Amino acid sequence: MSATVKIHDLSFAPYITQSKLEERIKVLAQNLDAQFLGKDPVFLAVLNGAFMFASDLFKMLKCQPELSFVKVSSYMGTQSTGRVDELIGLQTSLKDRHVIVIEDILDTGVTMDKIMSLLQAEQPASISICALLIKPNTYMGKYAPQFIGFEIDDAFVVGYGLDYKERGRELPAIYQLIK
Ligand code: IMP
Repeated sequence: MSATVKIHDLSFAPYITQSKLEERIKVLAQNLDAQFLGKDPVFLAVLNGAFMFASDLFKMLKCQPELSFVKVSSYMGTQSTGRVDELIGLQTSLKDRHVIVIEDILDTGVTMDKIMSLLQAEQPASISICALLIKPNTYMGKYAPQFIGFEIDDAFVVGYGLDYKERGRELPAIYQLIK
C-alpha cells in the first residue's frame, strides 16, 4: 500500500488495504446471498460515498440483486415544517420488497435514521443496513446494522469512495487522518 497521502491541508496514513477490503467484501456478499437468495432483493446504494463499495460488492453477489443509487436531499419546507428530507433516485416501488441500504460509513447515525424513516413509509417487507465502516464509539442510530465491513475508531477516514472536502474518493484503499 502506498505511503501517506496529502489531501487539501491534511495528511492521511494507510489504514485498510485493498486486499483486506476485497477479502471482507467477499464475506459480506456471501452473507447477503445466504439471506436474500431467491427473495428478489433491491439494494439502495447511498451516493456519493457508497459508489465504490456498491460496485465491488455487486460483482460478488449471486442473489440477482436489483440496484438503485439514492441520495438524501434536505430542503426548506414551509415555515411550520422546517427542513424536509427526501430520498431521490428511487426508480422502483419498494412495497413488499426486501430492501438493503448500502452505506459507506455510519458515524453518528443521523443520516441512516433519516433514510430508514423515509424507507419505512414505502412499506417494504424488510429493510437491512449494509455499511462498509462503522464508528461504534460515535454511532447513536436507532437501527442496528446487520451487515458491517469493519468497526473503526473515531478518526476521520478517506478513500474507497469516502471524501475529505470532495477529494480522495478515487483512492483504492482507506486512509486515516494523521493527527
Ligand atoms: P452520520 O450521519 O454522522 O452517520 O454520517 C454519515 C455520512 O457522513 C457518511 O455517509 C459520510 O458521507 C460522512 N462521514 C462520516 N464520517 C466520515 C469519515 O470519517 N470520512 C468521510 N466521510 C465521513
